[in-house]
Amino acid sequence: MNVTHLECALCALQYEAHRLHNVCTACGKPLLVRYDLDRAKITLRKETLATRRPDLWRYREVLPVEDEDNIVSLGEGWTPLLRANRLARRVGVQDLFIKDESQNPTQSFKARGMATAVSMAKELGAKKLAVPSAGNAAGALAAYAARAGLKSFIFMPRDTPHANVVECEQTGAHVTLMDGLITDCGAEVARRKEKEGWFDVSTLKEPYRVEGKKTLGYELAEQMEWRLPDVIIYPTGGGTGLIGMWKAFDEMERLGWIGSKRPRMVTVQAEGCAPIVRAFEEGKRFADEFPNAATTASGLRVPKAIGDFLILDALRESGGTAIAVTDDELIAATREIGASEGVFCAPEGAACLPALRKLIEAGEVKTSDRVVLFNTGSGVKYMESFAAD
Ligand SMILES: Cc1ncc(COP(=O)(O)O)c(C=O)c1O
Ligand SMILES: [Zn+2]
Repeated sequence: MNVTHLECALCALQYEAHRLHNVCTACGKPLLVRYDLDRAKITLRKETLATRRPDLWRYREVLPVEDEDNIVSLGEGWTPLLRANRLARRVGVQDLFIKDESQNPTQSFKARGMATAVSMAKELGAKKLAVPSAGNAAGALAAYAARAGLKSFIFMPRDTPHANVVECEQTGAHVTLMDGLITDCGAEVARRKEKEGWFDVSTLKEPYRVEGKKTLGYELAEQMEWRLPDVIIYPTGGGTGLIGMWKAFDEMERLGWIGSKRPRMVTVQAEGCAPIVRAFEEGKRFADEFPNAATTASGLRVPKAIGDFLILDALRESGGTAIAVTDDELIAATREIGASEGVFCAPEGAACLPALRKLIEAGEVKTSDRVVLFNTGSGVKYMESFAAD
């Protein structure tokens, strides 16, 4: 296929493709996959995409799997980009869309990343996959590992939504619930992985989840007929989807599919865990760990992200911003989006709506801007969050 090498996102050190890698051995930061895009574009042409399979593997030439037989799929990607006219009128913009990622296998966008990560793990011979997770990544890994015939070992905070725990158990994962946060779960995986023979598929600590997530950017461009929106609002934990989209835009420009104009990228976090918002406001390139992280939007409870500098670079380069909303605001928004548009959002996805309102109020989003909100998962998994609502 078209992968030439892997490259450290910070120090640019290069690594051989087609080997199992985690982070950069020199600086500890994420590795990104690089492609021969001139070669990719011989067969990958936007004019003929319409005839391809309706999942993320339609962008096969810019995905890392070499042998077709190693593709592990449950039908991920190619989710609808829904016009949200009623909501648009309520908030006061002309063009508002929801990219509805709840329609993925395992009901969240985590399916994209796990489809490519598990396919690559299979191709490169890993047998036991381990992950710390806020919930949805766990459900996705459990399902894709089962589909691939591999074993999965999952570490989640004890107060992860119950649905995530049950789905992992019912798809054959080995589940450990821990007192603490996702960072504590990550430390446990790191401590035990060598002895247990686990391959660590923590987000951005292996190079391929971001490749699956980047298809969000390819799809958005294709679904918007190659005219990207003005503003993308994205609920950010580890930031893999935002980093992936930013990478996709760069690749698509080099494929000759889009110009140099980029959407303003906006990170939304919960006030109880907003390390990227804080770093953005303080002008820092790396984010400090957020103390006492707490929010009902479990996917946003990520006090420290290894890809922090990649998120912050993308926000700044794009002229975007970072904004926090309260748990009350994001829970109320779930009902507002649900009742206005019929989409039962995950609380993380719903957080985009109060963020948009704040941006309009601050004059950072104009009536004429075309805005896309990312609903990253399904509200169905969060019964505890809505119990008191
Ligand atoms: C529903 C949902 N939205 C958003 C996120 C944050 O995703 P990312 O790590 O790509 O920032 C998560 C992560 O667990 C999630 O489950
Ligand atoms: Zn490095």
